[in-house]
Order: sequence, then C-alpha cells, then structure tokens
Amino acid sequence: MSYAGKTIILGVTGSIAAYKAADLTSRLIQNGAQVHVVMTEAAREFITPLTMGTLSRNPVGGDFWETESSWQPGHIELADKADLLLVAPATAHTLAKFAQGLAPDLLSNIYLATKAPVMIAPAMNGKMLDHPATQANIEILRSRGHQILPTDEGMLACGYKGAGKLAAVDYIEQQVAQFFDGRSTV
Ligand SMILES: Cc1cc2nc3c(=O)[nH]c(=O)nc-3n(C[C@H](O)[C@H](O)[C@H](O)COP(=O)(O)O)c2cc1C
Repeated sequence: MSYAGKTIILGVTGSIAAYKAADLTSRLIQNGAQVHVVMTEAAREFITPLTMGTLSRNPVGGDFWETESSWQPGHIELADKADLLLVAPATAHTLAKFAQGLAPDLLSNIYLATKAPVMIAPAMNGKMLDHPATQANIEILRSRGHQILPTDEGMLACGYKGAGKLAAVDYIEQQVAQFFDGRSTV
C-alpha cells in the first residue's frame, strides 16, 4: 500500500459516524500506516479513546491540558511529524473552527500548527451541510488547498434521507492511498 510507513494524524470529531473511524483506523494500520488519533471532546461521547488507542496502537490525543511527556507541547510534536492530517468524520463545528482559525482544542491547534496536507471527510445532517455557513466554510478550506471529500447520500442517523453521510470507509482509505500516489481525484 502506498501509504505504508506514513504518519497520519486522524482527527475524529463529534459525529454519529465517529464509530466508522475505528474501521478506518484498523485498515490504515493493517496497510502499514502510523496512525495518531486525536479526538475532540464531543467525539469521546460517541466512541472511546480506548477503542481508538487500541486500534491505532498509539495513545490518543485530545486532552489539551494533560501533562506532557516531552518538553515540546503535544500539538507541535504531532503537527511536525504528520505526513497527512485526515479528519473523518468532520462535523460542521470542526469545519467552522478550521475555517475561522479558532483553536480551543488539540485537533484545531494541530490544524493550525501543521504544514502537512489536510484531507477532510465531512458528516452531518443534509440541512446542516447545505447551510450557507457550512458551505462557506467548506469553500474556505478548499481554497487553502485542502481536499474535501464528498459526502454520500442515504439514510442519515437523524432520520432524514439525503446528502451528508460520511463517505464510505473504503472510499476514504482509497483517497488516502491515491493521495500518497499523487493521483488524487478530488
Ligand atoms: C446524537 C448526535 C449526533 C450528532 N451528529 C453530528 C454529525 O453527524 N455531524 C455534525 O456536524 N454534528 C453532529 N452533532 C453535533 C456535534 O456533536 C456538536 O456540534 C459538537 O459541538 C461538535 O464538536 P466537535 O466538532 O468539536 O467534535 C451531533 C450531536 C448529537 C447529540
């Protein structure tokens, strides 16, 4: 796999689709990536750091104020070593934080501190996705050269049918592989 040996920071945010990040992590690891998971506080309501830490074989980042084991703040260390910052699933809130440069948590600090390319897989209710605020934030992120993956259409957890579903894990994994092959299609 083209990303074997690459260091991927996987940001997981507070979407109902957060459980799919477990499968994604497992696949990336099985194909030889080094995965460092960073979870927002909201993400921890949906899936546990225990699951993500076990699957990624690395401690999970998230508590901004935890005692550091090295002299360098965790977000700088992680930001420096990333080959890719992948956020899946990305909530409307996280898109807004990134677009506006707000930095209240570890993931948003890493976003600001890293020079690594950024790939984002949004997931949310279709009306939230269609909202001009969300669309404007997506455009801002796109204009920075970030790769925003399309959402899928289907039955959403909120009961609505339509766009906003997290892209299939297979597809996200494929996009990561293609990114490192230099053949990205999005
Ligand atoms: C059951 C439930 C499901 C949610 N699913 C989503 C979602 O799929 N996408 C989204 O943008 N927000 C969703 N939210 C709202 C976010 O969790 C909320 O905006 C949170 O502040 C996101 O914070 P974060 O971006 O820092 O993780 C959901 C909330 C609840 C209670």
